[in-house]
Amino acid sequence: MTVKLKIIKTIAQLRECVDAWRSGGDRIVLVPTMGALHEGHLSLVKMARDKGDRTVVSIFVNPAQFAPNEDFGSYPREHDEDLQKLTSLGVDLVFMPPREEVYPQDFSTHVEVQGLSEGLCGVSRPHFFGGVATVVAKLLNQCRPDVAIFGEKDYQQLLVIRRMARDLDMDVEILGGPLIREGDGLAMSSRNAYLSPQEREKAPLLHQTISELAEQLANGGSIAELCETAAKRLALAGFEVDYLEVRNADNLAPVTTHTGEPARVFAAAMLGKTRLIDNVAVPDRKK
Ligand code: PAF
Repeated sequence: MTVKLKIIKTIAQLRECVDAWRSGGDRIVLVPTMGALHEGHLSLVKMARDKGDRTVVSIFVNPAQFAPNEDFGSYPREHDEDLQKLTSLGVDLVFMPPREEVYPQDFSTHVEVQGLSEGLCGVSRPHFFGGVATVVAKLLNQCRPDVAIFGEKDYQQLLVIRRMARDLDMDVEILGGPLIREGDGLAMSSRNAYLSPQEREKAPLLHQTISELAEQLANGGSIAELCETAAKRLALAGFEVDYLEVRNADNLAPVTTHTGEPARVFAAAMLGKTRLIDNVAVPDRKK
């Protein structure tokens, strides 16, 4: 039996539908997105189907997480293609609210997760995590899912959202879904569409560099020196490196010596006008 995808634009209709499912005993899983869906998003949707009975996907390009000089206006919007992909995956409901539904004119509340939001992407995008936390808090209140799933490509975002949900006693389980890569290693991202053919060819070097760095780190050596060499390699290839750092995988504290704690390499770099981010785990040689 094929079930018709429900496309809903208001919070009232979303609640009505989800409440009915919940009273019937269904477990609701939400996958928040900004659309322009690629295999990374679709893997989260597939995971959502396994984690519950009803899958809700939200598509909302959230103005609050873009600074005035960023790409809110040009962010890819591909609603027809997105809806086709979600239909073929058997999603139950797509929530696509207009801007006024999410941010009424006198909207005046802001959610800020201190500490976790401050390093890495928070340095060059200081507005970003507050905008994300605010809209995700709203989406979780609007849909009241049992589970919400976010991709590990935005690893810092995932930790910020998990902390917010815990701190605000939100009755939801926050899950991370694995980062999905193109065949050549480039992390899938809606922003990859901005890359010119020459930049696209160069882009996988980001993943290659941090993977090799993670391997070297697992074998010991000075973390600062290895990071510096890796950043230089990217700069020489034409990347403008924003950060390349090793952080604790659970709390994002800087890792400067080999203590055996779970560590990840995090990097962000501009390639032309495109901002790329990526992260990989430092292998644990003790395992
Ligand atoms: O990762 C994203 O696509 C966005 O930051 C999110 C979580 C949907 C909030 O707008």
